Amino acid sequence: MIIVIDGPAGSGKSSTAKAIANRLGIKFLDSGALYRAITYLWLESDKPGKAEFFENLSNVRLQADYRDQTFYVQADGKNLTDKIRTKYVADHVSEIASYKTARRFVNEFMRNLVKEDTYIADGRDLGTAVFPDADLKFYMDASLKERAKRRFLEMKASDESITLEDVMENLRSRDEKDQNRENDPLKKADDAIVIDTTGKSFEEQVQEMVSIIKENVNLN
Ligand code: CDP
Repeated sequence: MIIVIDGPAGSGKSSTAKAIANRLGIKFLDSGALYRAITYLWLESDKPGKAEFFENLSNVRLQADYRDQTFYVQADGKNLTDKIRTKYVADHVSEIASYKTARRFVNEFMRNLVKEDTYIADGRDLGTAVFPDADLKFYMDASLKERAKRRFLEMKASDESITLEDVMENLRSRDEKDQNRENDPLKKADDAIVIDTTGKSFEEQVQEMVSIIKENVNLN
């Protein structure tokens, strides 16, 4: 059983999906964290040809697990959960995510993971390319300014040098790359329910989506 949320960077998908997962007692799958993890692995490698590097990722023991309200990612036993949230990774992830071999690897990993449990997952192409038969699809959006403000407040806690302009530029450039790439671009699925969170409180949007899920999906 899989519920998906797609949408642009910083639209609140991950935090909303997590809150919904906790309320409904299901698991959360953060597809962006997987793209961030393989980006980190590439940046830390001696940087061979990219297509080839992602082709051979099945040699890396990638593990993902949702517990204690955190989506943990490990590669060959090394915990990457915090390492993938840096500006360095954020600045490279959309380029890496445009490679067909990278997408193939992450998609296969996710399809295997959800076989075992009920998940709510967030990403860019989940309702269109990865899980076209998902039990329910959402598309979350908000204005660029509001998305940048929210993300800036989150990042400022761990990086004092970051500015609102840096964050806005990173979101704008990632959205542009994600929407215009050839392989599985960011796109609303025809059957996705649109949730525009501009001006809505977090609690309001979570409540709205939980109600929609309860009306449309049999979670038992
Ligand atoms: O949380 P935020 O929206 O900032 O980004 P994320 O979900 O961590 O995803 C990081 C990047 O991974 C995105 O900007 C996309 O380039 C890529 N991504 C993707 O291509 N397809 C997905 N299903 C999820 C993420």
